[in-house]
Amino acid sequence: MATTAQMGMVSGSTDFETITVRRVGGVIGATVDGIDLARPLSATQVREVRAALLEHLVLFFSNQSLGPGELLAAARNFGEPSVYPFVKGVDGFPEVTEVLKLETETHNFGGVWHSDTSYLERPPMAGILHARELPPCGGDTVFSSSIAAYESLTPAMQAMLAPLRAVNSSAKADAATGRADRLRDRSSGRREPAEAVHPVVRTHPETGRKSLYVSRGHTLRIEGMTQAESAPLLDYLSDLQTRPEFSYRFRWTPGAVAFWDNRCTQHYAVNDYHGHRRSMLRVTLAGDVPR
Ligand code: SIN
Repeated sequence: MATTAQMGMVSGSTDFETITVRRVGGVIGATVDGIDLARPLSATQVREVRAALLEHLVLFFSNQSLGPGELLAAARNFGEPSVYPFVKGVDGFPEVTEVLKLETETHNFGGVWHSDTSYLERPPMAGILHARELPPCGGDTVFSSSIAAYESLTPAMQAMLAPLRAVNSSAKADAATGRADRLRDRSSGRREPAEAVHPVVRTHPETGRKSLYVSRGHTLRIEGMTQAESAPLLDYLSDLQTRPEFSYRFRWTPGAVAFWDNRCTQHYAVNDYHGHRRSMLRVTLAGDVPR
């Protein structure tokens, strides 16, 4: 049985000067109060939010009111916004995409466990999602800690995984079967699937913590193996990472913002609100090559 430390739990939270941070999940997730993301942020605020993100992996802000330009400006405090492949940005803001499910649609965007665009050579460092229109109930997003999942493994399993690399492909992107993806051929110019090989165990470039870096949404196979040979291991690791103990389910409220560290988390958009509209604005921040 893994100890608390092995499961990636944080027993206490850092005190901050400009923001109030409260942990909400056992191993992932914290709310942040005392900040208006629509206003220019001080260097201290930016530093503290970044520190909270590294500690809690996903941060939730409430009652924010951000148009595309304000969301982009807020995102620029924390990194370099990047254009999301395959998906057209909103008018005038190529880095801001709308994650929209209409009343008439049944597929949603992101309805499979994934780490964003791990099929790119440099997947995003972070994602920021802002709720504009929500269904009366449902439409939650679940986040999971790939650090806690990795730390729960035995040393023997960790050693076995250490040299492995995996092929990630946008062709397996069940995550992108929603409306936004269906606009791609008309709007974004990118047609060919993207593929990238990354380590199965990734080391966080800022904290040095190790995490699993395979997902059901995008990981196709272990490098050097067939999909069939890889499937038992990938299924095991995907199931492990998405266990409730390593996850936190976020109930959106209008104006809420989720800011996640895409290098060591996965997320899943729950598709349980057919017949209702849900509209979110989203920005991703450029990342580095996983190592
Ligand atoms: C996504 O995968 O980025 C979408 C998440 C959501 O809409 O809840």
